[in-house]
Amino acid sequence: MPEKPRVYVTRRIPEIGITLLREHFDVRVWDSDDVVPREILLEELKEADGVLALLTERFDGPTMDAAPKLKVIANMAVGFDNIDVAAATERGIVVCNTPGVLTDTTADFAWTLLMAAARRVVEGYKYVQEGKWKTWGPLLLLGQDVHHATLGLIGLGRIGSAVAQRAKGFSMRVLYYDAIRRQDLEQSLGIEYAPLEQVLREADFISLHVPLTPETRHLINAERLRIMKKTAVLVNTARGPVVDQKALYEALRDGVIWAAALDVTDPEPIPMDDPLLKLDNCLIVPHIASASFKTRDAMAALAARNIIAVLSGQQPETPVNPEVWERRRK
Ligand code: DGY
Repeated sequence: MPEKPRVYVTRRIPEIGITLLREHFDVRVWDSDDVVPREILLEELKEADGVLALLTERFDGPTMDAAPKLKVIANMAVGFDNIDVAAATERGIVVCNTPGVLTDTTADFAWTLLMAAARRVVEGYKYVQEGKWKTWGPLLLLGQDVHHATLGLIGLGRIGSAVAQRAKGFSMRVLYYDAIRRQDLEQSLGIEYAPLEQVLREADFISLHVPLTPETRHLINAERLRIMKKTAVLVNTARGPVVDQKALYEALRDGVIWAAALDVTDPEPIPMDDPLLKLDNCLIVPHIASASFKTRDAMAALAARNIIAVLSGQQPETPVNPEVWERRRK
């Protein structure tokens, strides 16, 4: 019997992904909740035909060169800034991601952060826990109204659009900026396009939904933070480096903006001595926007199906560099 192709899974993931892969392949798993050590990853890649990877593993040219048999990297994430796609394309490796299946869950969570920061939920929780709640207070933990406020979206892909859709329920005005204007969506979502600076100037809440690229690194910097309202709340469920974190710290400390809520930081995890952790007006959670039971199952299953497709000569559902698969097919 010919040997089954080898697939390496770089972390413990929802069982459905492993089960699907085991039906076809010889599957090896880094069976841990911690990041796979680099030397183990490199060792495993020597024999791998496919890898189910996470955003915590860097796949650059030299990593791929350590994987002579590798045909597919299936990232269990919609973002793929951890992978050098050009290097993969050059080497004939198909890269896949998991768009679509996490859109609504991530949009829900952007709203969770927005509302929590606006209405100081975590501060209120701590206040109670610390035994400070003595009476109802007319001036206690006042926050920002969400209803009828202006929401500014930076990036109008799937997730940005789903965030916009939810704003209707709060009777908000929604402004968006994207490198590509989406006139087709403006009417149905009830949103207005505006240049970046105008969105930053007019929005009460700014939510980031751009991928991390050289162009979006530090898109939110000191200068742009100064354009925002003093009462503004910044929400980041995109990627940490989209925000210049030192500039954000200074802006929050000095009252340049009112609050921030971050699902993502730069680096991750955020070091425990980072000054942002000392600020009451900065809410930070550990990159969990897509972390619902159903969505993580769907992400694991999609990543597994992408590997199965590529290794059996079929078109993967969600390739990032489809030209590699096309080339291989000819
Ligand atoms: C992604 O998919 O890129 C998220 O950051 C994790 O779900």
